Amino acid sequence: MADLDDLREGCDFGLGESAGEQGFHVKGALHLPWGMKDRLSRIFNPETGKTVMLAFDHGFIMGPTSGVERIDLNILPLVEYADCLMCTRGILQSTVPPTVNKPICLRSDAGTSILTELNDNVIIDIEDAIRLNVSAMAVMLAIGDSKYEAKTVANLYKAADLGSRYGIPVMGVTAVGKDMARDARYFGLASRICAENGANIVKTYYCDGFEKVVAATPVPVVIAGGKKLPEKEALELCYKAINEGAAGVDMGRNVFQSESPAAMIRAVHAVVHKGYTPEQGYKLFQELK
Ligand code: 5RP
Repeated sequence: MADLDDLREGCDFGLGESAGEQGFHVKGALHLPWGMKDRLSRIFNPETGKTVMLAFDHGFIMGPTSGVERIDLNILPLVEYADCLMCTRGILQSTVPPTVNKPICLRSDAGTSILTELNDNVIIDIEDAIRLNVSAMAVMLAIGDSKYEAKTVANLYKAADLGSRYGIPVMGVTAVGKDMARDARYFGLASRICAENGANIVKTYYCDGFEKVVAATPVPVVIAGGKKLPEKEALELCYKAINEGAAGVDMGRNVFQSESPAAMIRAVHAVVHKGYTPEQGYKLFQELK
């Protein structure tokens, strides 16, 4: 029997006040279901619309390269400054404590390594992504690689199918191969193909004409940092990318190979979220290092 004692009649219906249509801070995501939006909101700060993702998945193709030899010692001290962590399931399960309570962008494809030929990859089981409660799945696309283009596009397509079934966004990662141009035409084409095939986020590289890459990609674009640069140059890269429309960075080597990784990620954060100029960011880096 329902408890009817002290059942209070509703009286505060806000009559005359519109319920209000809520926009959404992530590009191209307005019409996605709630679970997708919840996960995207964990990655992209609802106040700034931006993200600083810390990528440390390099070991899955490179082994213990510089800066990721000991994730527990090199990377865990940085996670408090990141908005999202990008890593493999092996590192997540073995080394990242669940208590860090950060959204995870799970490296969700695997296959070949730098010792053979890159990009001959398959995707991991979606059940693993669900069990690990990840906020996004990252899948590499080798656009322009005649051998692996179709396979990697199929991987992304499959991941997007499964992701939309379970509410997990997919990040398409544009690979750069030996024979691929690093220009706006190539990155624009590769980024657009990611989005057309269902990616909810695209990770690519900064280049001249980057604003055209962003404009023609209907979902948020984040940039990889690429090879290690002097800190000031890396902050300039972030600044230019953000100013030209990037929704954030997914950076690895320029953080964990820095002379002071914690100072660097905090400086990157200030450029991405607070609009610091490269000079202000570098000053902050020097103060903190
Ligand atoms: C490789 C990746 C890496 O995570 C990515 O390149 C980011 O790292 P870095 O800033 O060192 O380039 O997605 O496929």
